[in-house]
Amino acid sequence: MRIMVTGGAGYVGSICSVELLAQGHEVFVVDDLSTGHREAVPEEATFYGVNVGDKGSILRIARDQRIDAVFHFAAKALIPESVTNPAAFFQVNVSASLAMLDALREAGVKKFVFSSTAAVYGNPASAPINEDDPKLPVNSYGDTKLCFERVLAWYASAYGMSAIAFRYFNASGAVAQVGEDHRPETHIIPLLFEAASGERECFTIFGDDYPTPDGTCLRDYVHVLDIARAHILALRALQCPGFAAYNIGTGESHSVRHVWKAAEKVIGRSIPVRIGARRLGDPAILCANPRKLKTELGWLPEHSDLSHIIESAWAWKQARIRSNGIRV
Ligand SMILES: NC(=O)c1ccc[n+]([C@@H]2O[C@H](COP(=O)([O-])OP(=O)(O)OC[C@H]3O[C@@H](n4cnc5c(N)ncnc54)[C@H](O)[C@@H]3O)[C@@H](O)[C@H]2O)c1
Repeated sequence: MRIMVTGGAGYVGSICSVELLAQGHEVFVVDDLSTGHREAVPEEATFYGVNVGDKGSILRIARDQRIDAVFHFAAKALIPESVTNPAAFFQVNVSASLAMLDALREAGVKKFVFSSTAAVYGNPASAPINEDDPKLPVNSYGDTKLCFERVLAWYASAYGMSAIAFRYFNASGAVAQVGEDHRPETHIIPLLFEAASGERECFTIFGDDYPTPDGTCLRDYVHVLDIARAHILALRALQCPGFAAYNIGTGESHSVRHVWKAAEKVIGRSIPVRIGARRLGDPAILCANPRKLKTELGWLPEHSDLSHIIESAWAWKQARIRSNGIRV
């Protein structure tokens, strides 16, 4: 198939592009490089340095390239920024995304896969979380993603679109070519590596007084390759009009302290840590129930063992450091 991948220069989008190409699909990346990296886009993909809100360009690309389906990863996704600057989040995640969706509708593209997030659930009342549990986001990031899910549900019922929203839990891990490189970085595994490599003084655990076995937050880590696999399975499922949302997580959670110790084990050295205050809006436990994804799409998390996630991310980081001539 001919797939438009928005945000294909970013972390999850670039790895999905690699997987799509490996499966024989043609990939057309649309990315304004606001947080992505041109070098992360696979060479075999066609690249357009375009903002998804540029309706005319999206329409032209969709028509000229006879796009069959769209994977929409492009977004603003830094939670702390979403609290202080909601305007930017509504602009990109809702307004620009809506302009793109209308261009796709005009071009007759009916298959759409959307990167949503566990942040749509807010502070969940129970764990693991089911897709139909209450959705009460506590930051504008989660709210914009929920808003766009609702847009998709309406577009599916009115315009015959076939849309899937994947609510990722903690995307993590790397492949040989691409790994996690957000700037600023806010995700736990790259931050632990930065502390291990002396790029930052230490790693901060935000709160050790949560009602969890070791007092630190529990999260569900899922390897990006397993996320990519879910997207590829979605292509087969997008045959009939309608909208569906699925959690992508393993159903197992690990504490921050546990991830820290697992990272020390993988890299074979100690990582300096300090205990900081809790962050606003951090739920104690976020863990997916992935049953719907497993039963309806046949998905299995094959790469999401925590040690493997950390090993793959560390291998990528070391290779990158070697190629940049930096020593750790
Ligand atoms: N990484 C995670 O743990 C995680 C968890 C849940 C959901 N998600 C979602 O997955 C998607 C990808 O996340 P990521 O971690 O790869 O983020 P990322 O920042 O690495 O990638 C986002 C990409 O989108 C591009 N982009 C942003 N705004 C754009 C615009 N207006 N037009 C064109 N391109 C634009 C950026 O340049 C970047 O390449 C996002 O939608 C995010 O909300 C990620």
